[in-house]
Amino acid sequence: MKNLLLLGGGGRECTLAWKLSQSTLCGNFYIAPGNAGTAGYGTNLPISVNDFAAIRQACLDHKIDILFPGPEDPLVAGIYDFFKNDPLLKHIIVVGPSKEGAQLEGSKAFSKKFMARHNIPTAAYKEFTRDSFEQGVAFIKRSDPPIVLKADGLAAGKGVVIAQTTIEAIRAFRAMVMDEQFGDASKKVVIEQFLDGIELSVFALTDGTNYVLLPEAKDYKRVGEGDTGLNTGGMGSISPVPFADQTFMQKVISRIVEPTVQGLKAENIIYQGIIFFGLIKVGDEPFVIEYNCRMGDPETEVVIPRLENDLVALILKMGEGKLSEVTVKFSERAAGAVMMVSGGYPGDYAKGKIMAGLEKVKGSYLFHAGTGLNDGKVVTSGGRVLAVTSLGSNIKEALAKSYENAGLIEYDGAYYRKDIGWEF
Ligand code: AMP
Ligand code: GLY
Repeated sequence: MKNLLLLGGGGRECTLAWKLSQSTLCGNFYIAPGNAGTAGYGTNLPISVNDFAAIRQACLDHKIDILFPGPEDPLVAGIYDFFKNDPLLKHIIVVGPSKEGAQLEGSKAFSKKFMARHNIPTAAYKEFTRDSFEQGVAFIKRSDPPIVLKADGLAAGKGVVIAQTTIEAIRAFRAMVMDEQFGDASKKVVIEQFLDGIELSVFALTDGTNYVLLPEAKDYKRVGEGDTGLNTGGMGSISPVPFADQTFMQKVISRIVEPTVQGLKAENIIYQGIIFFGLIKVGDEPFVIEYNCRMGDPETEVVIPRLENDLVALILKMGEGKLSEVTVKFSERAAGAVMMVSGGYPGDYAKGKIMAGLEKVKGSYLFHAGTGLNDGKVVTSGGRVLAVTSLGSNIKEALAKSYENAGLIEYDGAYYRKDIGWEF
């Protein structure tokens, strides 16, 4: 039996908590900080994911064997190295890359250079800073819109601008590098070619040498139906992805997944954890839009319910560097998740709304995201509140079930997109 500490408190972590807690290898299980949903699968600890000292103490107090950081922040801040450099913590398996490996997500410039070194298909680009502002403007003027600008560092999902005109691009560029719109994160900016295609998310778990693929997924990022309106953290997801057929996935594996795993190893970048490939299919060809060093949210809410393996067993194999011994099995069934959010999200929204009807839900999983407990009642506590996930013989059937159950859940200002999976 292994004692586990999972970091995070969103829908991704609730789904991981649900899965990890089912393992016969799961001993004492803690989630920091967790939410009202994770409290049903383990013990929530009131610790921030970035408070390494408190996380360290919790690991010692609870004799933790496996640390699973859900979000990117602690990984990019170097929690892996923090553990491996501490004599009392270094035996703990950390599911995630070293600080250097996490740069695949933490620095767009780092990931673009890595892809260039390993011939991994991605949009053509150049990087600029305040010192090369004039060259950046000239580069924008030479490029055909739309023009994609990306703050180099983490910007809470807001660091990408797709400018439709040259003027808009120059304005966004100036705001990033000269006005430091995203602070240090936008001191450097990647300007890249716009790729026109359909996006999907592919996940690998690697031990640094071998890897296994998890089911692929697609998320729906825009707040409005028909993929309109502002970008959000994700309004729903599906898995499998119908357009990711075998021929396409073979290209993804040979041109992207394998060169990435081999490239990390060749460069001695320590990476034991999840590689999230944010891909775009242009014509029949895959390109990398971005790497992340953790699972996606809300992709996890459909990927994990389809995974038939024991997740703790997979993590232990990863820790031993023996993922080559593992065969990943996923359900033939399709999964569809509908994200219920607070009215106004991704702008301002109210919190603390009492939620009703959760007990009426039948035949779907409820993965809590922004929820909390107040006087024993479940209340909203964030923008994305709850994912309703169902399995079905196809995506339509799965989503029909999710919608039936989402309709039973009530709170002031509840909103969800009615068209997740509409194109399939
Ligand atoms: P990122 O933070 O890199 O995932 O970018 C956010 C979103 O911007 C992506 O999910 C895409 O929808 C879009 N995007 C980023 N880069 C490009 C690109 N080169 N071409 C087209 N769309 C892009
Ligand atoms: N759903 C996209 C992400 O987690 O970054």
